[in-house]
Amino acid sequence: MSEAPPSIPAVETSGLTRSYGSMLALDNLNLTVQRGDLFGFIGSNGAGKTTSLRILATFLQPSSGTARVLGSDVVTDPDAVRRKIGYMPDFFGVYKDMEVTEYLDFFGACYRLPAAKREKTIGDVLELVGLTEKKGALIGALSRGMQQRIGLARVLIHDPDLLLLDEPASGLDPRARIEMMAILLELQRLGKTIIISSHILSELQTLCNRCAIIERGKLIYTGPVSGASGDLADTTIMWVTTPEADRALPILIALPDVREGEVVDGKVKLTLKHKDADASQIAVAMVQNGLRLTGLREEEIGLEEVFLRVTKGETQ
Ligand SMILES: Nc1ncnc2c1ncn2[C@@H]1O[C@H](COP(=O)(O)OP(=O)(O)OP(=O)(O)O)[C@@H](O)[C@H]1O
Ligand SMILES: [Mg+2]
Repeated sequence: MSEAPPSIPAVETSGLTRSYGSMLALDNLNLTVQRGDLFGFIGSNGAGKTTSLRILATFLQPSSGTARVLGSDVVTDPDAVRRKIGYMPDFFGVYKDMEVTEYLDFFGACYRLPAAKREKTIGDVLELVGLTEKKGALIGALSRGMQQRIGLARVLIHDPDLLLLDEPASGLDPRARIEMMAILLELQRLGKTIIISSHILSELQTLCNRCAIIERGKLIYTGPVSGASGDLADTTIMWVTTPEADRALPILIALPDVREGEVVDGKVKLTLKHKDADASQIAVAMVQNGLRLTGLREEEIGLEEVFLRVTKGETQ
């Protein structure tokens, strides 16, 4: 566990900026990730996720601004940062002709784990990622999902406090993704802080407690995952249940706060003009027009929907 006091965040960036030539890949990013967070890092292709993670992992220098990992500066104290993090890049070479144990032993040695301790540590991390029975297998003979899990085992070998995982579930089938998510939850339970970038927003929504959405290198949102929909959604969708949906539809569409409506599966789906619109007018209109109202429900807007609305496909 880290020697940093608990009040120090896992990650804190201030004005973090990175350009490639004239291309601004990361623009003044101010981001805080608290200890113990399972933090989703969300953005379209080219938004700057990998750039940010590589800076935090000390593989890339910022152009300006600062980033601290558990209190250590990534530029002035990279060795301290590396000891505290496990970085799983989006593409990592797997040493296909190595056996699983050999491979993990190699990385254990890189982190200067004493040889006597390595065997137990390798056993522990293999158990965590559910691959104990593949100890002696050649990495090249493992499935993609298993190789991803070996990649995760590798970044756990020196027991880092912070995991930086760049799309760890990409290319995995649904079952392998669910298994990967379960492993991440277990790691969070064990006290690790995890930052995970991914495009599979529905999964991040159930997995993560907090998230950041970036677009063209700029931070659009950071906060609780559940707050993202409330803060960022520009409309509310209401579902009206009534046995007279077809008669209700034109009446409800005519209401001042309703933008559009349609009948879906026998229910009236209304999109309101703004998220603070007063939905009670729907109930009033139903009653005034002698229509039976058996249900009125606000639709929960998922992270995916919010993301699509706020980013409008702005990639670079
Ligand atoms: N080595 C590089 N040289 C020049 N431009 C780069 C380099 N690496 C990244 N970029 C540019 O920086 C921007 C951010 O890229 P980055 O890889 O950080 O995005 P990302 O959010 O990880 O995208 P993806 O979802 O596709 O992985 C992109 O416009 C990309 O083209
Ligand atoms: Mg990337």
